[in-house]
Amino acid sequence: MFDRRNFLGGAAVASLAQPISAQALRSVPLPAADLYGRDEDAYWQALRAQFLIPADVVNLNVGTVGSSPRPVLKAIFDGFEQTEQMTQEGSEDYPIWGYGAWEAYRKPFADFMGARVEQMAILRNCTEANNYIANGFDMKPGDEVLISDEEHGSGEMPWIMRSRRYGVAVRKFAMPKPPKDAAEILNRINDAITPRTRIIFVSHISTSTGVILPAKDIAALARSKGIISAFDGAHAPGMIGFDLNDMGCDLYTGSMHKWLFATKGTGFLYLRDRDVMDRVWNTIATGGYDDPTRMADRYMQIGSSCIPTLMGLNAAIDLANAIGMDRIERRHRMLADYIHAEMMKRGAQSWTSPDPTLRGAIATVNIAPVQRMELQDWLWKNHKVRIRGGNPSKLRLATPYFLSRADIDRFLGLFDAYRKMKGI
Ligand SMILES: Cc1ncc(COP(=O)(O)O)c(C=O)c1O
Repeated sequence: MFDRRNFLGGAAVASLAQPISAQALRSVPLPAADLYGRDEDAYWQALRAQFLIPADVVNLNVGTVGSSPRPVLKAIFDGFEQTEQMTQEGSEDYPIWGYGAWEAYRKPFADFMGARVEQMAILRNCTEANNYIANGFDMKPGDEVLISDEEHGSGEMPWIMRSRRYGVAVRKFAMPKPPKDAAEILNRINDAITPRTRIIFVSHISTSTGVILPAKDIAALARSKGIISAFDGAHAPGMIGFDLNDMGCDLYTGSMHKWLFATKGTGFLYLRDRDVMDRVWNTIATGGYDDPTRMADRYMQIGSSCIPTLMGLNAAIDLANAIGMDRIERRHRMLADYIHAEMMKRGAQSWTSPDPTLRGAIATVNIAPVQRMELQDWLWKNHKVRIRGGNPSKLRLATPYFLSRADIDRFLGLFDAYRKMKGI
């Protein structure tokens, strides 16, 4: 049976929960625009106060899900208050995303991602979007999709299911661990392509190692061979700045609830052009699913969904734009480089790339004989520090911009104390 107390991690963690009033969401001002130039640390500290994460908690796991800051929560709460009055202007207007084009939400997000509105469908998470790709193409038994051995379950399993039902072949290449440079990854992909390869589907940023794959080069390689390129970008929006149309891929999916700190229940599917759309069957069908004139909007016809979720998304984009993706990315990289270097000093093996250009805000290291799950539980239950990783000894350390060096030092100090305590 589901044990809520155990799920929360016991009394120490459950006691962290504080009720939050609508008033509290409005009471913490954003940092002044010129503070960054005057005192950068103070600027990031002021942004830290936008997050409800208690001051004594260090959250080194945005890789799974982000925490929505005050402006996002305020937009969602206000959105419910507004929409639930059912006073929409038109007699046919109702507060449900899932019917209609909803450009007021698609356009700001498309702009943020360097895409055009007609290329962008907002969905409910990256898993949903990945399934659209795996279900979408007509493929014959024996036709191949090429994926890496580091795909998330929601990237790999839709293809596995398709292969079990319809005989499509799922071919995997092994990512170098770690990749010394981008060319090494590209060569592995090139070597794994066969005459039957129809689609290359890989993560833009690996969920397990944090490695940023050379997406533009992979897209160009695929195009040169007449292969569709599709990327799972769950970790990319809000972690690093990039431009989808410049990348040149055919399809791209992602989550906004991770690094962009948007509402849970936000993901997207980007489709490059009408040629690609003509080849991608919809997965969810309701009125308008097959109307090609709607472009990407036809993939957004998903039935009744939650408009305040989209209002939160717009607020998340506004916040990221107000800070600036260039600043956010610089901060992410600086913190990840720091934690990575410190773990290397402690004898860890790097699973992310030693090339800093191939990582953003995730530094994954292997540090046997430390048992990841035991350390993870100890850090969270006793010290309010949250990490995640893979068994037996892999630690995935994610460094969102709101962390400080002092937060990272706290983790490092605890890590040292844990090893001493265990005599390892
Ligand atoms: C690479 C990757 N793809 C997809 C997902 C699933 O994302 P979502 O929860 O938005 O469906 C994750 C989640 O961690 C991920 O890391």
